[in-house]
Amino acid sequence: RPEPLVLGIETSCDETGIGIVRGRTLLSNTIASSMDEHARYGGVVPEVAARAHLEALQPAIEQALGEAQVSLQDLDAIAVTSGPGLAGALMVGVGAAKGLAVSLGKPLYAVNHLVGHIAADILAPENGADSAPLEYPTIALLVSGGHTSLLHVRDLTTDVELLGETVDDAAGEAFDKVARLLGLPYPGGPQIDRVAADGDPKAIRFPRGLSKASDLAKHRYDFSFSGLKTAVARWVERAEVAGEEIPTADVAASFREAVIDVLVTKALAACADRGVPRLLLGGGVIANRRLREVALERAAAAGVAVRIPPLSLCTDNGAMIAGLAAELIASGRPPSTLAFGADSTLPV
Ligand code: KG4
Ligand code: ZN
Repeated sequence: RPEPLVLGIETSCDETGIGIVRGRTLLSNTIASSMDEHARYGGVVPEVAARAHLEALQPAIEQALGEAQVSLQDLDAIAVTSGPGLAGALMVGVGAAKGLAVSLGKPLYAVNHLVGHIAADILAPENGADSAPLEYPTIALLVSGGHTSLLHVRDLTTDVELLGETVDDAAGEAFDKVARLLGLPYPGGPQIDRVAADGDPKAIRFPRGLSKASDLAKHRYDFSFSGLKTAVARWVERAEVAGEEIPTADVAASFREAVIDVLVTKALAACADRGVPRLLLGGGVIANRRLREVALERAAAAGVAVRIPPLSLCTDNGAMIAGLAAELIASGRPPSTLAFGADSTLPV
C-alpha cells in the first residue's frame, strides 16, 4: 500500500503550522508565527493568536504545497490539531481543516497536540537516514510555552498515558514571566538562556516546585512553576529595597537551574519507576542548551537514552500533526467524523 500523503494543520497556540508528509517522510514544514504581535503583552494573547491564524493559514498552505510540490488534489488526508490548546486558536485550524476535507472529499483526522509532539520524532529525513526509529516504550517530556507534560508512550497510535503536567504555569511561561521581571524582552526563554551563561547556577537556591516528600505522594509527575516565579520576584524586590544591584546573571542562572532540575529529576524518576530506559524530549523549551546538557548528562548516568528531534520539529509545527495522522492511517484508524470541535483540554 502506498504511503499516505497528508497535510497537517496546527493552530493550538501562536504558530500557524502547515506540514506535509508522505508516510514518515517530511516534504514541507512551514510555520508562520504571531509571536511578535504578542511581544508587547509579554505573553500570547488568545484573541490576537486566533486572528493571526485566520490570516496566515491560506498563504502557509500554499507555501507548503509549493515546497512539497504537490497539489491539494494529490492529498490522501487532512489532519488537524483539535486540542489541547487555546480554544479560539484551535477553532480556526479545525474550521479550515473541515472546509478543506469537505470540499476536496478527503478523509479528515483530528489529532492530539501532545501526541503530535511525540510523532515529531519519527519524521525522516530530518532525523538523518541513519537514526534508529523511535522505540517503545518511551517516557516523553514535552515543555513549551503552553504545556509541560510527562507521558508514558507504549504505542504512539494506541497507548499514550499522561503521567503528569503542570498545575499552574508551563515551563516556557515561567521563563517568559521571569524574563519580564528582570526587564528582558519576550520571548524570555532565549533571553534568560543568554544572560544565564555568565551567571552562577548555585548563587541562589530557588524552590523546586512539587518536590517535597509530602508533595510527591500526590504529584510525583506534576510540575508547578508559579511558586518559583514568586520566589524570584520576592528575591528581586528584597534586593531592590535593600538598594543592592540585581545580579541578573546569577538570578537567571539560578532560576534556570531550578526549572531544569525539576524537569529532569521528574522525567528520570518516571523512567526509573516504569522501567523505561528511553526519554524523548519535545517542545520549544528544549532549545535551552543547559536543559539539553543536564538531561543528557543525568540520563547517561541513569542508563537512559535520550532522543531530541531537530528544533524545527520540537517547536509547534504542522508536520508532526501530519506525521501522527500518517501513523494512524497506517495502523488502520478510520477518519474522524465531522462532529468534532476544538477542545482546549483534550486528553491524550
Ligand atoms: O513550543 P514553542 O515554540 O511554542 C509555544 O509554546 O507556543 O515554545 C515557546 C516557549 C516560550 O515560552 C519560550 O520562552 C521558550 O519556549 N523557549 C525557551 C528557549 N527558547 C524558547 N525556554 C528556555 N530556554 C530557551 N532557550
Ligand atoms: Zn506544543
